[in-house]
Amino acid sequence: MDVDPSLLHRLFYPQVPLVLSAMSGARVSAMPVVSYASVSDSPPLVAVSCARGGFTLKLALKARAFSLCILDGSHVDALSRLATVSGAKVKDKLADAGLRYRKGDQLKVPIIEGSVASLECSLAFKKRVGDHTLLVGSVEAASANESFSGFWDFRKYRPLLYTGWKGKLTTYPER
Ligand SMILES: Cc1cc2nc3c(=O)[nH]c(=O)nc-3n(C[C@H](O)[C@H](O)[C@H](O)COP(=O)(O)O)c2cc1C
Repeated sequence: MDVDPSLLHRLFYPQVPLVLSAMSGARVSAMPVVSYASVSDSPPLVAVSCARGGFTLKLALKARAFSLCILDGSHVDALSRLATVSGAKVKDKLADAGLRYRKGDQLKVPIIEGSVASLECSLAFKKRVGDHTLLVGSVEAASANESFSGFWDFRKYRPLLYTGWKGKLTTYPER
């Protein structure tokens, strides 16, 4: 079949979602993202594409910093909540989703407790790309739990594989 351009991103599923979080003043916001990539090893740079107008994007631009956290398959309900509530509606979107966090070691960014891995990124630059804004972050710190020792041990880490929003967050295999 011909694939409609609006569906192209679904060809990439399943994908492991990350949670992009930012804080500024008393506001904390976060959103699941799958449009991300590691784009340079030296210097270490990562890129994330965010729909324009989103609150979490605005907060990350204001803070000029953001974190990326990987949550495992046990956090599907929290990820669903982060995807359905706008950060504009709640003072602390992570708390609203039942997620606890601490401040980063290098940057004032939220690091979600129970993450299997986390990256602290300062904003290197942003670029408008079509209807999205590409955030390119310089990775100032990164850590992972004991499931990672150069490669993931998938007997310990069960990644959440996102297959799309079909009225609710769906995964492979289905839960
Ligand atoms: C698994 C998953 C991945 C997502 N990936 C992206 C993404 O890469 N970029 C994006 O702009 N929105 C993405 N979204 C949608 C945002 O997470 C969602 O619109 C969120 O509520 C935005 O939060 P905000 O209003 O606080 O900015 C994704 C949603 C889900 C469930």
